Amino acid sequence: MNAVILFGSPRKNGNTVELARAVAETLKEKGWGVRTLYLNDMNIRPCQGCYTCLPDGVCRINDDMKDVRKYIAESDLIVYATPIYWFGPSSQLKLAMDRSIAFMDENYNSRIEGKKAVTLTTFGDENMDTCAPAIEMFRKTFDLLKVVYAGRVDVPGCQGEGNIGQGYKDKARALAESLA
Ligand SMILES: Cc1cc2nc3c(=O)[nH]c(=O)nc-3n(C[C@H](O)[C@H](O)[C@H](O)COP(=O)(O)O)c2cc1C
Repeated sequence: MNAVILFGSPRKNGNTVELARAVAETLKEKGWGVRTLYLNDMNIRPCQGCYTCLPDGVCRINDDMKDVRKYIAESDLIVYATPIYWFGPSSQLKLAMDRSIAFMDENYNSRIEGKKAVTLTTFGDENMDTCAPAIEMFRKTFDLLKVVYAGRVDVPGCQGEGNIGQGYKDKARALAESLA
């Protein structure tokens, strides 16, 4: 089994990375292949809304999204890991999500139907409602892509860096174990 982690934070030693690492380590212990894509380091241009990808799934923009699409296509599980920026995902992750329109065809059938997805979010606010708009966006997106929303870990109160409590890392490990 393979998983791809779409890592949306620009900070490799921040908060979100701790959840992503807990999921990756757990899956690897269970024998999964896990690839983490640091989206901030990749050249991913914004979707141009041309819809030329719909018939054959090939985007006319020649950039690193080719690799993201390839790794998603090869994976059983997609992990969307992001800090909450203004109640949504980071723009690094949103760029990749917009470009995922290439996973739909002209009839809005999904090319990745049946894959599983989980989300990992961290945010500064103590109020859990802060991540609700992002979670709703993920849920509706996965519905359209016919991807199974298999679980999530949302961590409030994340100020500074490297601030995920052990309880949340355990939650992330438990989520990964439930999938493995
Ligand atoms: C541009 C920007 C926007 C943010 N927007 C929010 C927000 O709307 N709500 C919130 O609670 N925290 C917000 N935060 C705080 C981050 O979500 C939080 O610190 C997160 O854990 C950072 O993740 P990282 O360490 O993985 O980069 C924002 C941070 C930045 C830099």
